[in-house]
Amino acid sequence: EKGGYPDFMLKEIHEQPRVIRDTLAGRLVGGRLQIDELDLSPEELNLIDRVCVIACGTSLHAGLVAKELIEGWARIPTEVEAASEFRYRNPIVTPSTLVVAVSQSGETADTLAAIRDARVKGARVFGITNVLGSPVARESDGVIYTKANKEIAVASTKSFLGQVTSLCLLALLLAQAKGKLRMNQIRMLFGELADTAEQVEWVLGREEAVREAAEACVGATSALFVGRGMGAAIAREGALKLKEISYLHAEAYPAGEMKHGPIALIDEGFPVIAVATRGPVYDKVVSNMQESRARGARVIAIATEGDEDIRAHADHVIYIPKVRDAFSAITASVPLQLLARRIAVLRGCDVDQPRNLAKSVTVE
Ligand code: F6R
Repeated sequence: EKGGYPDFMLKEIHEQPRVIRDTLAGRLVGGRLQIDELDLSPEELNLIDRVCVIACGTSLHAGLVAKELIEGWARIPTEVEAASEFRYRNPIVTPSTLVVAVSQSGETADTLAAIRDARVKGARVFGITNVLGSPVARESDGVIYTKANKEIAVASTKSFLGQVTSLCLLALLLAQAKGKLRMNQIRMLFGELADTAEQVEWVLGREEAVREAAEACVGATSALFVGRGMGAAIAREGALKLKEISYLHAEAYPAGEMKHGPIALIDEGFPVIAVATRGPVYDKVVSNMQESRARGARVIAIATEGDEDIRAHADHVIYIPKVRDAFSAITASVPLQLLARRIAVLRGCDVDQPRNLAKSVTVE
């Protein structure tokens, strides 16, 4: 049942290239992006002036990625909020707000309550879920199904990649409706998005560097994940994966916030995992790595293949293929999933069924 893998989590991590391919299949029709299930005309899409993404846990982190994409491509102000906060604070939602509810199981209690609240306020709600006919699918105006298939490991991996891929599609669709990107740009971006399936395969074939980095972290009591922009969102997900399956305390911080407090944590050997891929904030992240290292941190960098310079600033480097910053959440999340799993295995934890956690959270 585990298909030769030692645990479901590793099996599911390896299914991710397939998930990306299936999620994108049939979406580019006659050179235009099409998501028929959303059931909104281009005119209706064009009226949207604000997006609120609501979700919990890992799905919330997919939402953080979506904010970067929707604001970057479609130029629509986007907020991302935990459903458990959204539902209790009388948020400002109007009929021109698009609420995007992201939920693997489609039955998370807080996410469902937030959807109901948003609809009462007149918002359009799109669900992004992995489960056909789930409450989130039924109660949303439109739904995109992530094609992850059943996820068994409690820690979400392939669902997260399915969510991010779906949100990339949604962001491109909004950009198309708003006329913020030219059609040839959209086609080019869609092509690059499709290429990430192969790039993830490349990452999966190189676990050796992950193994080394994991061995360096296994005795730690705490770890810090840092990044900027898209990297900050990726860092949040990396820290969550690590704490939930290895029970190692992990925290994520935007790298630029380090010197406003968290840098005080760093002493000899303290692991700092930096998302330092080539992109608009690369130099800034490298200088944060240098600052951490100067205080004794053991720095693990997720870096772009071919970047040899980074070795001067890190103790361990895990390379991923070169991709546009917008798609780095897809490629850079994978080594962090592998890292969390490897550390958990080394610490003797039950990778698939971490203590105190359930796969779906149907009570608040
Ligand atoms: C972490 C994890 C959880 C879920 C969260 C939301 O690996 O799986 O944080 O992401 O409980 O669940 P869904 O997406 O089903 O609403």
